[in-house]
Amino acid sequence: MQKLIDEINQLKKSSGALILAHNYVSAEIQDIADFTGDSLELALKARDCKASLMVFCGVSFMAETAKVLSPDSTVLLPVPDAGCLMADMAEAEDVAKMREENPEAVFIAYVNTTAATKTCVDICCTSANADRIAASVPEGKKIVFLPDRNLGRNVADKVARDYTFWNGCCPIHDRITCDMILDAKKRYPGCPVIIHPECRPEVVACADYAASTGKMLSIVREDDSKGFVIATEEGILHRLKKEFPEKEFYALSPCVICDDMKKITLESVRDALKLRQYEVKLDAETIEKARKPIERMLNTK
Ligand code: 13P
Ligand code: SF4
Repeated sequence: MQKLIDEINQLKKSSGALILAHNYVSAEIQDIADFTGDSLELALKARDCKASLMVFCGVSFMAETAKVLSPDSTVLLPVPDAGCLMADMAEAEDVAKMREENPEAVFIAYVNTTAATKTCVDICCTSANADRIAASVPEGKKIVFLPDRNLGRNVADKVARDYTFWNGCCPIHDRITCDMILDAKKRYPGCPVIIHPECRPEVVACADYAASTGKMLSIVREDDSKGFVIATEEGILHRLKKEFPEKEFYALSPCVICDDMKKITLESVRDALKLRQYEVKLDAETIEKARKPIERMLNTK
């Protein structure tokens, strides 16, 4: 493995590439990345990126967002079919049709959507800012929230508006149950449970905190507890253990794994740098139209 890591570091140095990684990718990928973060943090890094070459270790909608925000950079996704099951649930044509049927509504798209779908909406959100984005919609306006019905309902519990939810979800988070949370509380007494808001609202209600993967780190920093149960994809545990070696972290279940995130391997990153593959290609019109809802999100205070 060390030989592969040395090769990647060499290729990174000679190409000037920036390696970005999501909190869910494998530990060894997080360790070779220049920056690891949640969807919002990665979008901001991509926007402010000065490098002409970026290797995005995550799934395709994230790499597309990086390309939209940094169109002059070459963005590589090491495994072209690393996708997101939830993003596939809201196709651009279906969203455009719903828009025609709801011309007065404000369409909010979770960033877990393709660039093509983003061209059909008013504003984006991530799990780190969804409440704030919904609250920015004037009262009395109808909101169509897509694709995640769970995140949408969790937002609706805090921000009262007239919502219609798209019927999508992340199958990995949707599978988490209240029983799993209650069982973990018995197994790890005194350890707060931190959950991702892609889980169902009744399950979120059983946990102590709900947060984006990035905000999970701030919660751990501020909560004096010695141990935490983490109810999301297991990749984040590596980051938590690395940043807080004095605390204990327990995965809710060994089954909360996003297979697409795990497709990114050291070999694929090496090959991406060596062979300049696989370049994210979006036409100029898609970039221009998809950038508007993302920028609107980034500019919403
Ligand atoms: P975060 O933005 O919280 O990292 O979440 C992204 C994601 O895909 C969760 O499943
Ligand atoms: Fe998509 Fe779920 Fe994987 Fe996140 S964990 S990238 S929402 S499939």
